[in-house]
Amino acid sequence: MGTIDKIERGMWYMGLKEHVKVDKNLDSAMALSQEGYMFIKNRIDKYQTDIFETRLLGKKVICISGKEATKVFYNKDLFEKKGALPKRVQKTLFGVDAIQTMDGQEHMHRKQLFMSIMTPLDEKQLAKLVSKNWEACIDKWETADEVVLFQEAKEVLCKTACQWAGVPLIESDVKDRADDFDLMIDAFGAVGPRHWKGRIARNKAEKWISDIIKDVRSGRLKAEKGSALYSMAFYKDTQGSEFSDEMAAIELINVIRPIVAISTFITFAALALYKYPECRNKLLTKDSNYLEMFAQEVRRYYPFAPFLGAKVRKDFIWKECEFKEGMIVLLDVYGINHDSRIWDKPFDFLPERFKEREDNLYDFIPQGGGNPSKGHRCPGEGITVEIMKATIDFLVNKIEFEVQNQDLSYSLVKMPTLPVSGFVINNIKRKS
Ligand code: HEM
Repeated sequence: MGTIDKIERGMWYMGLKEHVKVDKNLDSAMALSQEGYMFIKNRIDKYQTDIFETRLLGKKVICISGKEATKVFYNKDLFEKKGALPKRVQKTLFGVDAIQTMDGQEHMHRKQLFMSIMTPLDEKQLAKLVSKNWEACIDKWETADEVVLFQEAKEVLCKTACQWAGVPLIESDVKDRADDFDLMIDAFGAVGPRHWKGRIARNKAEKWISDIIKDVRSGRLKAEKGSALYSMAFYKDTQGSEFSDEMAAIELINVIRPIVAISTFITFAALALYKYPECRNKLLTKDSNYLEMFAQEVRRYYPFAPFLGAKVRKDFIWKECEFKEGMIVLLDVYGINHDSRIWDKPFDFLPERFKEREDNLYDFIPQGGGNPSKGHRCPGEGITVEIMKATIDFLVNKIEFEVQNQDLSYSLVKMPTLPVSGFVINNIKRKS
């Protein structure tokens, strides 16, 4: 063993390779549940390192942070996804054996399917649809005592996603379906009842969508060529085989559910408009560059995805640490978006920081890093940003409202998190 370095309850010491900190807690699951989004960053900052070892649920895990770490993490020769995602996350958030668990050629082939339905044209169509669906809410809101923006956003996005994807959804079902997608998302960092609610919601959604896939395949329901519904129903894999009804449903849900998830960024965007009136004023000018910068800063500043996992494909050494085949490695998404080596004043909300910023695949990673068509990075970033921009413009330029006293705080421990009140607005009026 190397030098004993007793700090913080005597739990840390220098690891075998001298430079690698090892969290000697028998298990860090408790610390993770108490520190949430800050679990990795707290240790990275305190010990001035980009890497440490710990144990989570009985397994040795390496946590890494920083731009270089992202580059390593997205090296497909070194890492794979097979076996990296706990079944509990697959049975709630992603679906079992979905794209998030795949590697190699098969992953690339399926990724192409996703990329082909998320073109710039789809982004524009979704932005237009979402604006229309927001505007259709105004009459109802004008007579309401109050409106919880998060709840409204889930419903508007669920409706928008289904319209765009070609999935039939009657008005009276919108709320239940939207709530189910939200329960799947809410389950990702949960144990106990939140986890079980997520599982039940997923089973319901998979049954609903696989019945629709069956109807399309049997000709009972017409799907427009090129729509997400059609593409999932008739996709053929590298062997020329179609998805099972269940897998087609899982992957179609992998398109609709994350669109509903944008409601989290929308709620944080509303919070930012309220907390930073100077930003709101700039948005009144309808400057499209500023709108883009504001949306990007919301994605950077506010917490959503905490970290990402992958499994070591073959032994290698990085930063004098031995990565052994089969080990799980966690990449610090929240920490990298708040790394002071990358971002000046990372805990200040400053949309202008995106003005002169050069595109980089590894240091701004709210939806993963690397090239989306070559790895696992989210294919839906364009859709996310366009839907956010359309919604922010709606909130600033299409309506007026008041924000009364409420609990707008959000926890960095609960994952995923949200302002406690869900952002309540009152006295809503259409702008003339
Ligand atoms: C709320 C906004 C969103 C967030 C925070 C988000 C976040 C992420 C993250 C962190 C990943 C994993 C990246 C990795 O493993 O390297 C991912 C993957 C993925 N996202 Fe998103 N996403 C969002 C919106 C969307 C949208 C709008 C869509 C589609 C319409 C989408 C579809 C997907 C798919 C299919 C994958 C799997 C990609 C793969 O494994 O190759 N996401 N997303």
